[in-house]
Amino acid sequence: MLRINPKNYDAVRRHGEETYPHECCGVLLGRMESEDERVVTSIARAGNTRTDSPQNRYSIDPKDLIRIQREGRERGEDIIGFYHSHPDHPARWSQTDLAEAHWFSCSYVITSVEKGNAALTNSFVLLGFDEHDKKFADEKITVMNDESDSATIRLATPADFPAIIPIVNKAYEIETFIIGPRVNAEDINRMSQKGDFLVAQDFSGKIIASVYVESKSDPAYFGVLAVDPSWQGKKLGRRMIEAAEDYSREKGRKYMKLTVVNLRTELPPFYRKFGYIESGTEEFLNPRPLKDGVKLHLIVMSKSL
Ligand SMILES: CC(C)(COP(=O)(O)OP(=O)(O)OC[C@H]1O[C@@H](n2cnc3c(N)ncnc32)[C@H](O)[C@@H]1OP(=O)(O)O)[C@@H](O)C(=O)NCCC(=O)NCCS
Repeated sequence: MLRINPKNYDAVRRHGEETYPHECCGVLLGRMESEDERVVTSIARAGNTRTDSPQNRYSIDPKDLIRIQREGRERGEDIIGFYHSHPDHPARWSQTDLAEAHWFSCSYVITSVEKGNAALTNSFVLLGFDEHDKKFADEKITVMNDESDSATIRLATPADFPAIIPIVNKAYEIETFIIGPRVNAEDINRMSQKGDFLVAQDFSGKIIASVYVESKSDPAYFGVLAVDPSWQGKKLGRRMIEAAEDYSREKGRKYMKLTVVNLRTELPPFYRKFGYIESGTEEFLNPRPLKDGVKLHLIVMSKSL
């Protein structure tokens, strides 16, 4: 799958209209989210160096390509694909396109431009190991709508732990019945002996969300889900929950559980949205001190993965 935001998607298509009746070409920069998922974070226009037949051939100047690659790397972006247009021809790859494609596992996006107007845009991923067995496979394009789609979710390393602490403590300021911050470095280290943290980072690499997952046995468990307040309400919480579930599924888990403090009455409806149902209660064992007289228990919520 190729994920691209509406602005870059439009820019690719507009480029084809501007150069009509000639082919346009350019580079897609971004990151590989997984083996079969690429995320476009920016595009770079390139000049078509073909003067012999620019209406049905394109070629990116190697000097342009090196510059685009270097500038992308400086911003933390890799080349993940290329785009070009087919003036008055279908948005399908031609034998020439295949012959001239050399970047394996990259996306090749083609926009058909009919009488000057961008029509269909399709993507093809170049598969194979060498020039002899290479082939194009259809690739779905998802035009991202949610801002959170631009965040990358990955497994945290100990180097991320210091950044997780303020995210959790800021997000959990809402739990005013707990005195002091929700987690400290010792808590994170202790938890990381038993489970893992997944973190989301924004384009600049800043950590903007985290979730703790225990997935060694069934039921898996996730907790301490925290989204930086400036990112809340942008579907990042949803993505973090899905990532925790996917991570546990990959480890062979069949069930997931979580617990919410009974005073947070807004949370059971939130988790029900994701298929969790109340399945019991547990004692609230919290190392953080509570305000005087506050009695809490945990509501257990579960679902099959
Ligand atoms: C709870 C939290 C993780 C949600 O993250 P978020 O990124 O703001 O949530 P999303 O934008 O992904 O929302 C996903 C869905 O839940 C809904 N939702 C979000 N917050 C909700 C709430 N407090 N109550 C009910 N539904 C809620 C959204 O409307 C959205 O629904 P939709 O997809 O049908 O439109 C985040 O607000 C947070 O970090 N809170 C502080 C820490 C916390 O309470 N963690 C959970 C404790 S177990």
